[in-house]
Amino acid sequence: MTAFDTRLESAAAAVEAALERLLPTVAVVPETLAEAMRYATLGGGKRFRPFLAIESARLAGGDPEAAVAVGAAFECVHCYSLVHDDLPAMDDDDMRRGRPTVHKAFDEATAILAGDALLTFAFEILGDPAQVSDPSARAELALCLARAAGAGGMVGGQVLDLAAETADVPLGEADIRRLQAMKTGALIAAACEAGAILAGASADDRARLVRFGQIVGAAFQLADDLLDVTGDEAAVGKRIGKDADRGKATLVSIHGETWARTRLAELVAEASEILAPYGARAETLVAAARFVAERKA
Ligand code: IPE
Ligand code: IPE
Ligand code: MG
Ligand code: MG
Ligand code: MG
Repeated sequence: MTAFDTRLESAAAAVEAALERLLPTVAVVPETLAEAMRYATLGGGKRFRPFLAIESARLAGGDPEAAVAVGAAFECVHCYSLVHDDLPAMDDDDMRRGRPTVHKAFDEATAILAGDALLTFAFEILGDPAQVSDPSARAELALCLARAAGAGGMVGGQVLDLAAETADVPLGEADIRRLQAMKTGALIAAACEAGAILAGASADDRARLVRFGQIVGAAFQLADDLLDVTGDEAAVGKRIGKDADRGKATLVSIHGETWARTRLAELVAEASEILAPYGARAETLVAAARFVAERKA
């Protein structure tokens, strides 16, 4: 295992434990809702956004442990986005993380409401003094996550993604980049920014981490789109070939696989360039960019 693998694994374990502890139980919320929220979040996923929050905090000189709960909040928003993304009204998918999607395992209304509850719960975590002790960090983190998740970020990007399926004129490269920056890049960049906020980073360090996150976010969705064409269904844990079936606008659909691999390598180089001023201290995050580009799941 590389040093990066160890860091990713330990971030995932810490976030799993935090989610297990923080998520509501059947003792306090309606049974089906608690079960669906837990089903959607526990026991799966790469936990890449929490990892970025934790490692960005570390790079900016903060306490990585203090970033775990914040990472868990970002993971709740990510999981909610997946639950809703899989709904029949959106991508209509039956498999996620190697098991039935929430609307299949429960029902559509439960999937919608569990998603709503996870989104709200993320802000409950960020607003809780027991999770984030500094009041101004709590406010900044809430603003950062709200902007990334909302109409100008993930939700707006999902709207553009769905509209592209039925557009009269296929989207060009610039439009696809914009929609992907919104639907995927915004939350990934915000996870990096959250680490910087927690660490009380300088404006320059914070801007650099955001830029790094935007580039990694672009690589992340490009790799996802490539895996939808070339990936192994068992490894990715979700159906493949679904983008072509639905007529999704992706960079792979317009430029092909070879272009996508070259572009991924360019994005890794750009991401590593952004963090060059930190030298060896940035090794883990540079390895994360490489991981994103080369991932098989
Ligand atoms: C899938 O995200 C959806 C995209 C934004 C491309 P991940 O690939 O991070 O999914 P999990 O969390 O590891 O299951
Ligand atoms: C999802 O993109 C982006 C989100 C904001 C959820 P995709 O629709 O390509 O993600 P998968 O392939 O279903 O995981
Ligand atoms: Mg989608
Ligand atoms: Mg989808
Ligand atoms: Mg996809």
